[in-house]
Amino acid sequence: MQTLLLATRNPDKIKEIKQVLSHLPLKIISAVDLKNLPEVVEDQPTLKGNAIKKATTLSKSSALLSLADDTGLQVDALDGAPGVYSSRYAGERASYDDNVTKLLKEMQGVAENRRTARFRCVMALADGDKIETVEGVCEGLILKVKRGDKGFGYDPVFYTPVYNKSFAEISLEEKNKISHRGIALDKIRTLLETKFSRGVAQPG
Ligand code: IMP
Repeated sequence: MQTLLLATRNPDKIKEIKQVLSHLPLKIISAVDLKNLPEVVEDQPTLKGNAIKKATTLSKSSALLSLADDTGLQVDALDGAPGVYSSRYAGERASYDDNVTKLLKEMQGVAENRRTARFRCVMALADGDKIETVEGVCEGLILKVKRGDKGFGYDPVFYTPVYNKSFAEISLEEKNKISHRGIALDKIRTLLETKFSRGVAQPG
């Protein structure tokens, strides 16, 4: 069975990605499962640049098909911030909670109708030098206070009108149906299915 290496150590991303791709005839592992993988510095100016860098570096180093996700939250009232800096919005070693606290502070006093935002997720699938990228976008609003205890990252303050709930108030399955990552993963699933049906992916 072909192995797919997820180019991440983030357990929350791994859980969401596995939920969508688990039915494929693939053994899915992540960077946590392999020793001696290089650390990839996310220093590119765009989500796409970082996703490509993570996927190609790990694919070349492991000789495996590799999938990377780079995600940013773009808040209109903050001119698109935190964007590509979403993981380190409140500083280099910021926790999810630190980042959410900073976001709520920056958004203090911003009226309801100006709290529009979106998650943008770029995924890169690398087979050595061969690379394909896809994108998923999900529109919502930044809440004034945290709601819910599911999900991760900015989920407690990201409101989706689809469910009239925050992303932290819905299940993993509900989130994957409409989220930036779920949309990108649907496209990746199609790419992988095509790859298999063409016989490009060899059993390994
Ligand atoms: P990166 O893609 O690892 O650079 O992640 C950027 C940051 O965005 C993460 O540290 C999380 O705080 C946040 N993030 C990524 N995906 C999600 C999501 O699905 N929900 C909420 N926050 C997310």
